[in-house]
Amino acid sequence: MSKILIATEKPFSKQAVAEVKQVFEASGDEVTLLEKYSEKIELINAVADVDALIIRSDKIDKEIMDAAPDLKIVVRAGAGYDNVDLKVATENGVVVMNTPGQNSNAVAELAIGMMIYLNRNGFNGTSGTELREKTLGIHAYGYVGRIVARIAMGMGMSVYAFDPYVEKTIIENDGVTWLENVEDLYKKCQYISLHIPANDQTKGSINEELLMAMPQGATLVNTARKEVIDESSLLKILESRNDFRYISDIAPNCKDEIVSRFEGQYFFTPKKSGAQTAEANLNAGLAAAKQIVSFLKDGDTTCKVN
Ligand code: 3PG
Repeated sequence: MSKILIATEKPFSKQAVAEVKQVFEASGDEVTLLEKYSEKIELINAVADVDALIIRSDKIDKEIMDAAPDLKIVVRAGAGYDNVDLKVATENGVVVMNTPGQNSNAVAELAIGMMIYLNRNGFNGTSGTELREKTLGIHAYGYVGRIVARIAMGMGMSVYAFDPYVEKTIIENDGVTWLENVEDLYKKCQYISLHIPANDQTKGSINEELLMAMPQGATLVNTARKEVIDESSLLKILESRNDFRYISDIAPNCKDEIVSRFEGQYFFTPKKSGAQTAEANLNAGLAAAKQIVSFLKDGDTTCKVN
């Protein structure tokens, strides 16, 4: 019998938790739940005797991992694993996995939903704008980017994509225009939807040069990570172009300045909401649970990221 901890500051739906627990009941493992915790010490105490950990955006650093001597596996129920210190995990012999694709539809729907919300001025009854016949650039054509592209095409948008890691034919077969250079994406597209991970290559990479190149009526949509934006560039462009808007599921560090100076040019979700649907919770939670069982029972390391 292994001990499993589900540690989610932002909880899964009740149904997802119940079904995840069933997976571990069936495998004969013991589950505990730590939700909505506010202090790191709560997580440190909760990991003391666990073999496996399911998390979301919960930060797993050296202090947490060193407090968990029995820990063998951490599964990030979601896509981005920038919240886990992979180096320390590897040093401690801990396998880290994500659950690719499991919450993508939820994130994609939010990206489109936020565009409509800001285009319609927060539904305040004043005249807004439509997405139809506008150009949309998908920056990174992974699980989420592909769904955003499909929904946008259904709404009559012209969709372009840049992703050096995805073959041109895959993008073109979806009816999306492939672009070789990231600069061209920003030059061509009125809307850019970001789907790049936060890593050493991408942090701060969305800069003044790219943003300034966007056409009139530019909107940058971020359901990825706040760290990929160069915030000084963002402030500069909001200041110099009142046609430029920034929509994000992750409020930037400079949120207060944006809110006080650039009314109508931004929308930030009050709490990160992209993956927060019953369906995404269930898909990602169940995938995480099944991956843990397969790893602990059979040594299956599919979806390992370290
Ligand atoms: C992800 O990387 O999967 C998304 O950013 C969702 O994060 P969350 O599980 O914290 O909502």
